[in-house]
Amino acid sequence: MFSTETTHEVDHTVAVPLGPRSYNIRVVANDPAGFGPFARAELARTWAGASCRSALIVTDMHIADLGIPATIQASLGDIGIAALIAVLPAGESTKSLENASRLYDELVKLQADRHTLIVGLGGGVIGDLAGFVAATYARGLPLIMIPTTLLAQVDSSVGGKVGVNHPGAKNIIGAFHQPAGVWIDTQYLSNLPTRELRCGLAEVVKYGVILDAEFFANLEQIAEDVLRREHGALARIIMRCCEIKALVVAADEREETGLRAMLNFGHTIGHAIEAVAGYDGPYKHGEAVAVGMVAECRLAERLGWIKKGDVTDRLVRLLERFGLPTRATELDTGRLIEAMSRDKKNRNGAIRFVLPRALGKVELTDSADVDDILTVLSA
Ligand code: GLY
Repeated sequence: MFSTETTHEVDHTVAVPLGPRSYNIRVVANDPAGFGPFARAELARTWAGASCRSALIVTDMHIADLGIPATIQASLGDIGIAALIAVLPAGESTKSLENASRLYDELVKLQADRHTLIVGLGGGVIGDLAGFVAATYARGLPLIMIPTTLLAQVDSSVGGKVGVNHPGAKNIIGAFHQPAGVWIDTQYLSNLPTRELRCGLAEVVKYGVILDAEFFANLEQIAEDVLRREHGALARIIMRCCEIKALVVAADEREETGLRAMLNFGHTIGHAIEAVAGYDGPYKHGEAVAVGMVAECRLAERLGWIKKGDVTDRLVRLLERFGLPTRATELDTGRLIEAMSRDKKNRNGAIRFVLPRALGKVELTDSADVDDILTVLSA
């Protein structure tokens, strides 16, 4: 299914079917001129977007240094939308209520109305912040996501989860606000630092484990092409991840049935690692998720859900080929458990995990007790 060709002639669309909130994700390879027509077509399908004449492009300093916001501004100009650019510092601390408030100030200055478009141009931090502002200003503005990191392209830009951090809790202030469209250009990944690419690959691998064993096997075959950033290989993995995410989001948009929670495989332990090691500490989100996925596979082995070795060995080998960590033995296990006990998936005091039954099949469970978790963490 996934060939290793290097063509730049990539132009694929994934539909996210959500009734009146439906939208398209377009995956291209180096097509700056295509953005304007895509934006116009996606906006035209909504009441607010159809008469859009102004926009605020929210981005960070790295992306601004590459000159990308100016090209997006010009494309919007071509379709009759006058856009201002707001440039924020890069990094997790940007995702704050203070910065949301600064963006509200810009919108007031711009005399924004309910038809003013917000463009989130950057990685997950920018997308979440821009999306939060779009969700809240004037009770909701049209939003287009242009994710520029692999992690944002395969995960955070799709599905409508937007928000900012509270100093005491990550992602705790937020909303569901679906974009009007998502524009993914693999060309943006050419400039991505290797460590960031690897972090995105952790989430890519996750999709194989949770829902698609064939995709996992394909990743094993094309790992080197992906690491070489061949556009054909990148576009195909991004497409498959977006297809899977679109299916999951369409089935459980607001994470109420347990289906969307599947996307949290590796994240119960991963989030705890980030919380204990510090958000600007030694583990980036994707690295913590990589370690979390391995530990959660070992937990599934302990519960007898999967055979020892099997899934876990293949997962460890693939993550290692992608240059990702698979263990974090230096962290205090008691503090990790404490952090897990604050996980958003928990119910009635029990820590809940998404664990594999096989490669490509996971279930949400609260059947692991603290002893099981401690044993796995100490191993
Ligand atoms: N990143 C997990 C979700 O969108 O539900």
